[in-house]
Amino acid sequence: MMSLEVEALDSGYGAIKVLRGVSFSIAEGEVLGVLGRNGMGKTTLIRALSGLIKATSGAIRLDGEDISGLQAYERARRGITTVVQGRGIFPQLTVRENLEMGRIAAGKRPRDRSEEVLSYFPRLGERMSQQAGTMSGGEQQMLAIGRGLMTDPKVMLLDEPSDGIMPTLVHQIGVTLKEINKNEGMTIVIVEQNVPMIFNMADHCIILEKGALVAKGTTQEVSQSDVVQQYLAI
Ligand SMILES: Nc1ncnc2c1ncn2[C@@H]1O[C@H](COP(=O)(O)OP(=O)(O)OP(=O)(O)O)[C@@H](O)[C@H]1O
Ligand SMILES: [Mg+2]
Repeated sequence: MMSLEVEALDSGYGAIKVLRGVSFSIAEGEVLGVLGRNGMGKTTLIRALSGLIKATSGAIRLDGEDISGLQAYERARRGITTVVQGRGIFPQLTVRENLEMGRIAAGKRPRDRSEEVLSYFPRLGERMSQQAGTMSGGEQQMLAIGRGLMTDPKVMLLDEPSDGIMPTLVHQIGVTLKEINKNEGMTIVIVEQNVPMIFNMADHCIILEKGALVAKGTTQEVSQSDVVQQYLAI
């Protein structure tokens, strides 16, 4: 539902520069896959987009408006939700409470999305009263995505949703994300080490190497290019 344009983005941690001149754009309703080896700046990119860290220069435009000066909560109110690496759910709270936290986190009172969330992830519906920390890794990931959906987002940023999850479930989560993307027209930026998952679901891909883009194009272009061999070692 919203386009995102990143132009000459530099960001990092204090004196440590990580992202260098990163530029790409995503049309509304598209899926962008972000690939790259460990430590190449993928999570840093997600943090810079969500507002957890500041851009030192460059622009981040949401539907044409530069949001790079906004705080994380202000970006969340504009419809950006983040499913962080390691999931970031509240382990002591129940599934129901975690989902409700998603709704509260949106700041406003978004329309109640719980019915759709449970239709995408029926397993959550069977576990509404279970303490989230006692669920399997895959179920916790579904909950993290479900909680993000509860904010009624326009853009979802996902950081390695396949992390620590068995292959069949990874496939299923990928299929469900694509379904959500199609049904809701939700723009998705997804960071992954799981290259097949990205090649299956992304419209466009970028590859990050030491904080800079070394590839950018349609998934077909990137997947057939030599850079995959060169920078992803597969
Ligand atoms: N809080 C921080 N303070 C200082 N440096 C950091 C911080 N977080 C990350 N870095 C550094 O920034 C660089 C990029 O890290 P980042 O977490 O973005 O990589 P990544 O591509 O997500 O890796 P992974 O695949 O392992 O998750 C690394 O060199 C890392 O050490
Ligand atoms: Mg990371």
